[in-house]
Amino acid sequence: MSARSPGALGAAALASILHAPTPPRWVEDALGHLPELLLDHANCEKKAASSALALMFAYAEDTALALALARLAREELRHFEQVVRAMSALGVPFARQRPGRYAQQLRRALRSCDPGRKLDLLLAAALIEARSAERFGLLAARVPAPLARLYQELGASEARHFEVYTGLACGVAPAEWRSRLGMLAAREAELVTTPDRMLRFHSGPLHVRLTPT
Ligand SMILES: [Fe+2]
Ligand SMILES: [Fe+2]
Repeated sequence: MSARSPGALGAAALASILHAPTPPRWVEDALGHLPELLLDHANCEKKAASSALALMFAYAEDTALALALARLAREELRHFEQVVRAMSALGVPFARQRPGRYAQQLRRALRSCDPGRKLDLLLAAALIEARSAERFGLLAARVPAPLARLYQELGASEARHFEVYTGLACGVAPAEWRSRLGMLAAREAELVTTPDRMLRFHSGPLHVRLTPT
């Protein structure tokens, strides 16, 4: 998998990794809540950098991991800057926002200590990257032009990050990583397909509000 060229993780490959595609209704909800989406997206980029740094601290003896994730964290911070610029161009103010359920709930499925914790953290990060790549692809076809170009670029970048994380996971547990990825992917798919209270980049579609008749 790590032999694939950067950004070459296409829709078919994503479909084989992710256990469920993003529901079309989420795309419609996202387009109807663009300011919330952009704000959450900016926060996700910061969080992606921070999670990479946390892994570098937690597994300080792993130099290959440290070097791969140092580069990845720099890219995530660059993405953050790009999203903030896009927000400013679209007149979307930066504000505090409550995090969605996705990352927190996905973390609950991870093993809490090693052996196992390191593999799970790498695979959870890989799944988040794969879902991001899938959603950037879906949104790029629907958002206004400057944002569409950014989302295309970010989609390729996050697909490459998926490969960085799965490459590291394969190094940690060559016999186990694929089956464990499948188990965590099942939980991840549940979180992005079931109705959610808040629209976020990795949320499910919003609960349908029934209007009183
Ligand atoms: Fe990113
Ligand atoms: Fe990423």
